[in-house]
This record gives sequence, C-alpha cells and structure tokens, in this order.
Amino acid sequence: MSINYPPDFVARFYDLIYKKVRTGVDLDYYMKKILETDGPVLELGVGTGRIFMKALKNGADIYGIDISPSMVEKLKEKLDRKYHKRVFIQDAANMSFDRKFDLIIAPFRVFSHITKVREQIAILDKIHEYLNDNGKLIFDLYIPNLKLLSEGMRNYMDFDGEYEPGKRIKRFTSVKSDLVNQLSYVNMKFVWEEAQKEIAKDWNFQMRFYFRFELEHLIRQSKLKLINIFGDFDENELNSDSKEFIVICQKLKD
Ligand SMILES: C[S@@+](CC[C@H](N)C(=O)[O-])C[C@H]1O[C@@H](n2cnc3c(N)ncnc32)[C@H](O)[C@@H]1O
Repeated sequence: MSINYPPDFVARFYDLIYKKVRTGVDLDYYMKKILETDGPVLELGVGTGRIFMKALKNGADIYGIDISPSMVEKLKEKLDRKYHKRVFIQDAANMSFDRKFDLIIAPFRVFSHITKVREQIAILDKIHEYLNDNGKLIFDLYIPNLKLLSEGMRNYMDFDGEYEPGKRIKRFTSVKSDLVNQLSYVNMKFVWEEAQKEIAKDWNFQMRFYFRFELEHLIRQSKLKLINIFGDFDENELNSDSKEFIVICQKLKD
C-alpha cells in the first residue's frame, strides 16, 4: 500500500537531504515572515521541523501539525520536552486547536500533497477558522515544468551523501504525470548501507500540480482574500521565468 505522506525511512533521511537541496531557497523567507509576526504562528505540514526549530530558537510563538507520525516523531527527537505540546499529529483538513493564529504557513509545497479539491477547500476553510482577523496565510508551490510533465523522469539520482561516517545514502526519483488530472506519480527509491548490507526502499506518492489561475479561483472559493502570488522568495512579480508560486492570503474582518 502506498501512503501519500512520508514513511519512517523518508523521515529518517529528510534533514540530511533537504538541508542540501532546499534550505538555501526558502528558510530565510519564512523566518522573516514568522519573526515579524507578533502573535502565534502555525506551520501546516511542519515535517521534521526544518523551519519550525529555527523559529522556536529565535523566540517565535510557533506551533506545528503534520499528518505523518514518522515526521513528527523525528521533530520531537530534536525538541526539548517542554515544547512537545507545540507539535501535533493532525490532518490539516480537520485540524482543531484551542487558539487562533496571526500567521499560518504551509512551506515547501505542502499543498501539492493535497490531491483532491474538496480537501484543498476543507483546509482553506480550516485556515480561515483558525486565523485571527487580518491574519495571513503564506504557502508555496512549484510552477509546473511542462517539459518535465510531458517527458517524465526515470531513476534520476537527486541525492548522494554520507549519513554517517563511511555510510552512504542515495535517492533516485522517477516521475510520470497525468496532465488531465494534474497529478504526478512519484517514486523515490532510497538506497543505503547498513550493517554491511544494502537496503532499498520505495516511497510511491502523488503530487498535485497547480496552475496560476486555478490557484486564484481556489482562493476565491474560500473565505480568504488573495493578496498576491509572487514568483520567488524575493517577492518578485510572477513572470514567464518564475519557478515558484508564493501565495499570500489574508483573513479579513467580517
Ligand atoms: C515537503 S514536506 C515539508 C515539511 C516542512 N514544512 C519543511 O519545510 O521542511 C510536506 C509535509 O506536509 C505533510 N502533510 C501532507 N499532507 C498533510 C495534511 N493533510 N495535513 C498535515 N500535514 C500534511 C507531510 O507529511 C510532510 O511532512
């Protein structure tokens, strides 16, 4: 059976891989947004705390949820016990809290994991419910690369590194996309050495890709107001070379 959220071996190597391939891209942006917020912040899809941990260390009043028990377990391993109550295993589509937030973020393509429109809307409704008036939602998504979508990818080694001295982990990614349903079927094969043996495990999951006007219409269906969709983490306007959507919405006072 395949699950659409990260299983244990993915959580295990997540920090090692994404420190190299992602942190330089988005960490400073989200940190700035978090630290300029006065009230509480919620990270949806908090993962292993790549952003959350730094925000907390810098004094942010931050909370996090994730649907993957393995990712939350990894995060809690790094987190002082007194902060464990800031992190929950929850599905964003039916999340529940005893407080509201001034900023909700869903960094690093969390919405790509939400494949069905009714779940996307359910999450936007929940975000509206748990934002304070004038509170903001910020999330990012990749802009579909049409060449990649049509040609796909086969066994591309996108990571090769040591996870312990003398022990390597490699990751191979294959992708095939369904253009009508806007779904990419992804296979990530993790191959690593352990106790003198080679272990290989696959994670198969779906990623939903979005187009610009679809996003605009999606937000319009919710009770949130779309403020802007930028084309990168420097908040440049979208243009034909942009690679990312950075979506900013606000909850207006009723
Ligand atoms: C690419 S990771 C991003 C993790 C973290 N935000 C970061 O920037 O490193 C996406 C995360 O979203 C989580 N996720 C996917 N669907 C979710 C849902 N419905 N509710 C909560 N978390 C979800 C996954 O389990 C995964 O940990």
